[in-house]
Amino acid sequence: MDGNLQNDIEKIVEADRAHVWHHLTQHKPLETGEPRIIVEGRGMRVWDQHGKEHLDAVSGGVWTVNVGYGRERIANAVRDQLIKLNYFAGSAGSVPGAQFSEKLISKMPGMSRVYYTNSGSEANEKAFKMVRQIAHKRYGGKKHKILYRDRDYHGSTIGAMSCGGQDERNAQYGPFAPGFVRVPHCLEYRAQWDLSGEEYGQRAADAIEEVILAEGPDTVGALCLEPVTAGGGVITPPEGYWPRVQEICRKYDILLHIDEVVCGVGRTGTHWFGYQHYGVEPDFVTMAKGVASGYAAIACCVTNERVFDMFKEDMTDPMDYFRDISTFGGCTAGPAAALENMAIIEEEGLLENTTVMGDYMLDQLHALKDKHKVIGDVRGKGLFLGAELVADRTSKEPVPEKHAQAVAADCMAQGVVIGVTNRSIPGFNNTLCYSPALIATRDDIDQIIAATDKALTKVFG
Ligand SMILES: Cc1ncc(COP(=O)(O)O)c(C=O)c1O
Repeated sequence: MDGNLQNDIEKIVEADRAHVWHHLTQHKPLETGEPRIIVEGRGMRVWDQHGKEHLDAVSGGVWTVNVGYGRERIANAVRDQLIKLNYFAGSAGSVPGAQFSEKLISKMPGMSRVYYTNSGSEANEKAFKMVRQIAHKRYGGKKHKILYRDRDYHGSTIGAMSCGGQDERNAQYGPFAPGFVRVPHCLEYRAQWDLSGEEYGQRAADAIEEVILAEGPDTVGALCLEPVTAGGGVITPPEGYWPRVQEICRKYDILLHIDEVVCGVGRTGTHWFGYQHYGVEPDFVTMAKGVASGYAAIACCVTNERVFDMFKEDMTDPMDYFRDISTFGGCTAGPAAALENMAIIEEEGLLENTTVMGDYMLDQLHALKDKHKVIGDVRGKGLFLGAELVADRTSKEPVPEKHAQAVAADCMAQGVVIGVTNRSIPGFNNTLCYSPALIATRDDIDQIIAATDKALTKVFG
C-alpha cells in the first residue's frame, strides 16, 4: 500500500464504503458499520485494517490461495515477465504460456491442450461452447444438451448459471440459456434412494442415465460435474459413483467435463486433480482458483486430443476452428505465476502435506462431531472439508442458516476465518467449510478446530 494511504487507513475505509461494491454482500449494514479491509498476508495469516491477525482457514475466502500468502518468488517471476512482455493476444503464443502448458499436461495423462482464459466461469463457458460447436459440426446441432448436477456450481455468468445446480444462487437472475438439464445430486447423507455404499453410488449414477434416456441420448452432448462439490456443501462422491458415470458417458458418446476450479492443483491431496482419485478419463478439465493461488488471474480449459482434433478437420472451411477469444487469456502474468505455484507445490511436497494434514483435520472434525451433536456429517478430501450442522441427528433437519453463520462469525471474532455455505441450496446453507492453504501445519489445524469447538459451544451450548 502507498505510504500516505497506509498512514490514513480511515480514508481507505471511507473510499471503500463510498465506492466499492463488494461481492456477495448486502451493503445496508455497511452504511453505519465498517467494511473489512484485508491489508496484508503472510503464510496462512492475514491482517485487517486494525492490524488484527487472522488465521485463514479458507485460502482467501474462496479456496484459492493454495500456496499461502507472501510468496516472493511468484511475485518476482510475475514482475520479470511483465517487464519482458506483459501481454499479447492469445492467437499468438507466449513463453510462459508454452512452458506452463507443458508442465500442466505432464500432470494430466490423457489430456493434451490448454486453452487460457481468466476465470472459472469463463473456462467453463469455453467448454460449453466447444460442446455446442461439436454438436453443430458432427450432429447437425442436435447433440447439444449439457447435463449438470443438483448442488454443483460452475460460475456466475448467465451461461454458467444455466448450468448451475444451486437454486438460491440462481434465483432472480433468469431466464437462463436453454439446453442445460439437471441430474440428481449424489450426497449420500441426504439419500434419495434406500441403499448404501457402492450400491448407493451406482444408483446415483444410474439417475444420470435415466435423465439421458428421458432427454434422448442423441440430444445430450456433455456431462459437467465437480469431482467433489464445493459450495453446494462439500460433497464427496459415494463409492461406485465415478466408474459408473464414466461407463454411462462412454455408452452414449457423451463428453465428460470435470470442473476442477476448486479441487484442482493439489487441494484434495496426493493427486494434482480431484478426478485423478477416481480413475476418471475426462474430455474437458476446467480449473482456475489454485492454478496460480490468486497471485495472478488465470484459468484453463484443458481438453484431450480427441476434442482438439475436431476443431481442425477442414482447413478449407472458414468456420471449422474454435472461433473464440479471451482478451485477458493473453496476459502472461497468469502462466508465469502458475509455473512458480506448481514448482512450490512440488519442491515443498505440498501434495503429500495436504493428504497428511487433510487426514488429520478430518479426524479432528470427527472428534468434534463426537462432542457436538449439532454436527450431523463430516466429509471432504485433502484440505477441502465440510461439517454439516443439523438441529436433530435423526431427522437431519438443517440448523437455521443464521446459526451456521453465527459459528463462522464467532470464529472470525476469535481470529480464525472459516467458511459456511451461503445463498446456495434453499434451506441447506448449513455446512461449515474449511480449505486452509496446502502449507497448513498441525498447529494451524489445532487452532482452527479449537476455534470451531469454542464457537459451536457458544452458539449451540
Ligand atoms: C466449482 C466452481 N466452478 C466455477 C467457479 C467459478 O469461478 P470464478 O468465480 O473464477 O468465475 C467456482 C467459483 O467459486 C466454483 O466453485
